[in-house]
Amino acid sequence: MRRTFGVVVGLALGLAAFGCREKAAPSGAAPPASSGPRTYLVGVSQCNLGEPWRVQMNADIEHAALSHPNLKLVLKDAQNDSLRQRAQVEELVAQHVDLLIISPKESAPLTKPVREVFERGTPVIVLDRAVEGDAFSTFIGADNRRIGREAGKLVQKLLGGKGSVVELEGLMTSTPGQDRHAGFREGLDLPGNPGLKVAFEADMAWLEPNARREMESALAAHKRIDLVYAHNDPGAHGAYLAAKAAGREKEMKFVGIDALPQEGVRYVKDGILDATFAYPTGGAEAIALGLELLEGKKPPHRVTLGTRLYTKDNVERGGEEIR
Ligand code: FRU
Repeated sequence: MRRTFGVVVGLALGLAAFGCREKAAPSGAAPPASSGPRTYLVGVSQCNLGEPWRVQMNADIEHAALSHPNLKLVLKDAQNDSLRQRAQVEELVAQHVDLLIISPKESAPLTKPVREVFERGTPVIVLDRAVEGDAFSTFIGADNRRIGREAGKLVQKLLGGKGSVVELEGLMTSTPGQDRHAGFREGLDLPGNPGLKVAFEADMAWLEPNARREMESALAAHKRIDLVYAHNDPGAHGAYLAAKAAGREKEMKFVGIDALPQEGVRYVKDGILDATFAYPTGGAEAIALGLELLEGKKPPHRVTLGTRLYTKDNVERGGEEIR
């Protein structure tokens, strides 16, 4: 069963970065066992809090949990290290969490720990980046293949079917990187558009400084670049900064993904990016469906979140939904 949510515009509340810490929902002490709902311990394993999008995801989770005083969150930040994330999942199990919400850095190394928690009978919600197989309760995320495909179609249109493209990829051992790449190539349709070519592609592992460095190589190797497609907005911004430093930013267009209000949407408003696609965090949905799981209900195994396209023409009216 699948369920589709519209894009949830995350509330930019409490944008502080959290390491590992416990948070009780604000209404104070848990109610006595006999009166009111049971108190649940919810472990949140975040792969990295170095980027604004992940800070937003945690803020969305925390904000949604505020309305449920019977939820107590334990948040852990794996600092972009899969081995650390594996160890943190074990720590959460040792703390007897009633529910695990995990946004894994990479699919392969986190598959087994997630499966073990799930097979022990603890409900598991996998958020945004997938693991391999089906051993979890619910996966929540936007359709990255579709976003990539829409990006490819847009690039075709922006370039009128001809030109030289740079693709800066997210971490290719993570599912959004793989899907945003595969979908992009489908949408771009190189066989049907012989005037288009991908002149340079590199894995920038979702990180702006890497994107900037890779773009410097692309600029050195290619006299003409018409467009940069980066798998996230930090990547597109890093590419823009490299092009600007070389005095070449006006030669090309820039397309990214994420569309945080203070990041990608702001870049579109400022004329830095030509387009960005919304990538909702799923934090609020994780709390809503987590509660269903804790109450013994069976939410869908996969929940697909929507996306929006932002360009200079539609950004002031909030972008437009991709149907
Ligand atoms: C943040 C991020 C986002 C991207 C998502 C993909 O770590 O790189 O920019 O959309 O992860 O999982």
